[in-house]
Amino acid sequence: MNKAGSKQKEILSLLRNPNTGNPLVLKNASLKDSVSGERFMVKSGIPVILRRDDVFGWNRKQQKAYDWGSFFYDLLYKFNLFNLKQWLFEIAGIMEIKSGDCILETSVGTGQQLLNFKNHGVDGHFFGNDISCGMLRQCRKNLKKWGLNVGLVQGNAEALPFGDEIFDVVFHVGGFNFFNDKKKAVDEMVRVAKPGAKLYIVDETDSIRDKRGVIASTISRFLPEREAYAPPVKLVPDEILEVKEHKLLDGKFWMVSFQKPAIRP
Ligand SMILES: C[S@@+](CC[C@H](N)C(=O)[O-])C[C@H]1O[C@@H](n2cnc3c(N)ncnc32)[C@H](O)[C@@H]1O
Repeated sequence: MNKAGSKQKEILSLLRNPNTGNPLVLKNASLKDSVSGERFMVKSGIPVILRRDDVFGWNRKQQKAYDWGSFFYDLLYKFNLFNLKQWLFEIAGIMEIKSGDCILETSVGTGQQLLNFKNHGVDGHFFGNDISCGMLRQCRKNLKKWGLNVGLVQGNAEALPFGDEIFDVVFHVGGFNFFNDKKKAVDEMVRVAKPGAKLYIVDETDSIRDKRGVIASTISRFLPEREAYAPPVKLVPDEILEVKEHKLLDGKFWMVSFQKPAIRP
């Protein structure tokens, strides 16, 4: 993974106002839409390309939960809860990333997938967005500790703050089931992907709902309906190639992999 230079500076040139599609220019420590004049803050070095009113429903609930949970989130990985080490191994084994690829993880969280790729010797230019500033702050600390150079932005996966056709690989792990508008999130991943790019989406199956016991049934009460856990095979646009569904961790998680056509249909 690239360690030289600053991806946090580079990300500024990739950003767009998701509401207008216009480029953003850094002016007086904020980012200004070059046409509409709308301004976005840069908080502790991380651009916040998100209007407060645009975060509602499940996205708002997730944002609040992860802002709070960011203090504990990494413990899941540290103590290998739910056999996450095996899960990470399976994810890295399926995803195809070439040396020098420009990669976006939507909903990057605290950066654990990025560490996973580093541990698997993957060398690429990584960028990540997340809706939770708490998770991004923890991610920045982690990246420093792990010696990784990654560009971060606070933004919604359903309205990505990037221009079109930038990334060779776009992937998402773990927030998809709870998105307000899953179709929009898939379309946005496809939009920012270059022609020929590989895309991957990973999340849990509904097996959590089948677990017995007080903790599992209490958690289930706060979760969306069973249908929300379906792999989004039908949400992938028609022109997309090689749509495949994979089972991870003995069916506790699904992955959907697909490819944007190299030539526009
Ligand atoms: C289970 S965590 C996964 C984090 C990381 N990808 C990983 O594998 O460890 C889910 C993440 O999705 C983020 N998230 C939820 N809804 C989002 C949205 N609409 N846009 C961007 N990020 C979102 C949360 O803030 C959280 O960081």
